[in-house]
Amino acid sequence: MSPQPQAAVGAPLSRVDGRLKVTGQAKYAADQEPDGPEGVVHAVVVDSSVALGRITGIDTGTAEAQPGVLKVLHHRNAPRLPYGPNPGSLNLPGERLRVFQDDRVRFHGQPVAVVVATTLEAAQHAASLVKLDYDSEQPTTDLADAPAAGEPRTYARGDAEAALQSSPVRLEMTYRTSRNHHNAMELHATVAQWDGDRLTLWDKTQWVQSPRNEVAANFGIPAGNIRVISPFVGGAFGNAARAWPHITIAALAARETGRPVKLVLTRRQLYFGVGFRPAYEYKVRLGSNRRGLLTAMTHDLRAETSRYETFSERGVVAPGQMLYTTPNVSQTARTVPLDVNTPTPMRGPGYSSAAFPVESAMDELAHELGIDPLELRRRNEPENDQASGRPFSTRRLRECYTIGAREFGWSRRDPRPRSTRDGDWLIGTGMATALYDTLRAPGQASVRLDADGTALVESSTSDMGPGTYTSMTQVAADALGLAVRNVTFRLGDTSMPTAPLHGGSLTMASVGSTVQDGCDKLRQQAIRLAVEDEDSPLSGADADDIVVRGGRLHLKDNPARGETYRQLLTRNNRTHLEALGSWTPDQSRSSMYAYGAVFAEVAVDARLGLVRVRRMLGVFDAGRIISPKLADSQAIGAMTGGIGAALLEHTITDHRDGRIVDANLADYLVPVNADVTDLKAIYVDGRDDEADPLGVKGLGEVVLVGVAPAIANAVFHATGRRVRELPITAESLL
Ligand code: MOS
Repeated sequence: MSPQPQAAVGAPLSRVDGRLKVTGQAKYAADQEPDGPEGVVHAVVVDSSVALGRITGIDTGTAEAQPGVLKVLHHRNAPRLPYGPNPGSLNLPGERLRVFQDDRVRFHGQPVAVVVATTLEAAQHAASLVKLDYDSEQPTTDLADAPAAGEPRTYARGDAEAALQSSPVRLEMTYRTSRNHHNAMELHATVAQWDGDRLTLWDKTQWVQSPRNEVAANFGIPAGNIRVISPFVGGAFGNAARAWPHITIAALAARETGRPVKLVLTRRQLYFGVGFRPAYEYKVRLGSNRRGLLTAMTHDLRAETSRYETFSERGVVAPGQMLYTTPNVSQTARTVPLDVNTPTPMRGPGYSSAAFPVESAMDELAHELGIDPLELRRRNEPENDQASGRPFSTRRLRECYTIGAREFGWSRRDPRPRSTRDGDWLIGTGMATALYDTLRAPGQASVRLDADGTALVESSTSDMGPGTYTSMTQVAADALGLAVRNVTFRLGDTSMPTAPLHGGSLTMASVGSTVQDGCDKLRQQAIRLAVEDEDSPLSGADADDIVVRGGRLHLKDNPARGETYRQLLTRNNRTHLEALGSWTPDQSRSSMYAYGAVFAEVAVDARLGLVRVRRMLGVFDAGRIISPKLADSQAIGAMTGGIGAALLEHTITDHRDGRIVDANLADYLVPVNADVTDLKAIYVDGRDDEADPLGVKGLGEVVLVGVAPAIANAVFHATGRRVRELPITAESLL
């Protein structure tokens, strides 16, 4: 078939759902009101004020006596739920938290009761009146003080110990990253409504199948009885992927009261009601020769997890295995169970946590050897993936370095730390490499073209912010040969064709290829109809010579010969055409990653230790860019998030009682506009044809990965002080 002209793909479109969002017409989970505003009742979760122990008493009398209160549910009166296995879920090794099924408290803030009332205010007030007594024990919540459990995950090639011993240059460092919380703007919310044994959930989720499968397993009902609807998500960054306990609580409260129930977690409750990026302790040893060629690396890391589930992420060890030419590598990754709730992926999961130690260590080695940090990376650029032995599908990292150095002005850099001043400010620049693996998963999409020349495309994917609505509309518009305004893309409903988790940067590759397949099939159907129709101007033409543009089918080389979809369908008495698209990724023969190089310039107040990011540049090899404007939103948003991880974000636990002390957006600091002055992203040209039919490698994760180490390396260059712990605070520089 003739390739379709590409008009929408690659164009800097504004979000097709932007107007709905800025005019308040986009309905998020908490905006849903089945049966109207009077019909929905409100649930407020009561959470544990101790971190470990047992509930010995619960007094709900005063709460239940409040006007408007319908029910107070807790472990003594809640029905026992089956909590069956849920193999297709994102649940982890261990045993998931079962809400209100026993008297045990496993972490501070664990849900211990829920109050349902006719108004939110009544439910909030009554929740404050539920009296609980605990038999509490001393919790263990500090990664630094606790032992690892279970067997470590290990990786080895060559003989790292022997190679280190014989290396002329050896470095040994320990890095620490702090616990971070996603803190998306939208709070986690669920509205649950039963109709007999059928349940509808309006939920904030990155994967509508996730709450469906989880609630079905927990209640012991068929997944087909549950419909999950989630048209809009106000940010997620990974923590709306798993179906957290509050979703089951909402469904339970709705079943026990016979009313549609709305449950919105408070900002404070997000700090223990959903997951977080775990803290890491990451010991790195590097060996190299005098020219900076790496001879050996060892990585020994410890990561926090909960006492009841084991969270671990492959991405935290992958960079050490394949980013640089290293003949000898040895890794051990251990998990440390603590009396906390379970961690979860957070943007650039694993890779971001690894990039700080790995990319800081490279900077330390460069300084030690007196080699430019960019040059050191170039010298260690591998020809293939040394972990898998496979060739790279595409790896344009050298281009990222070259373009980045040129655009950032890297050659003007005086390599000596603390060499540049601007008044009281010490100025420094630093860089780091980024990578994230190209994940892909199968899915389906339905396409319907109406006789009026408009199309509807549906897939049960999600849009947590990257712009799925827009990018899928672009792909569909080009494959159908329609103007963007004549294509509607819908998502976020389990009644739509199945789609994979919206995470891990896999949506564009996976759902995009699925949408393109469905639209290709539909276009072919229309072309067949035309060439077989004696009354069509295209009658008898070779189908392979026909393209569609602006809703009109015509010969590629003779645009005058053709007709519109509308003419074709109307004459053939067809109200519409339909197709089902699907895509399943090939078994990959290559090592597929998206890459990037991040450059940062910081100013550090010499007397106060304040760090300001003056400018940042990211150069990314993410394959083909479908939507440049959305790509910039992702890249600049990620650089902003990376400033947070580098300098501000830190979930602080009081280890005496396991309480998170900064569980709010006043004390948990995130960057604001004044922290974000000059951020820029560049994308190297080129598609990856092995990855998927669209040629994309995924963008949303890789753009975060190198940011924190680039800033940390710039802080070292500015001050001569190497801070091996995130976030880098003023105190750590004094
Ligand atoms: Mo991303 S951490 O997979 O939402």
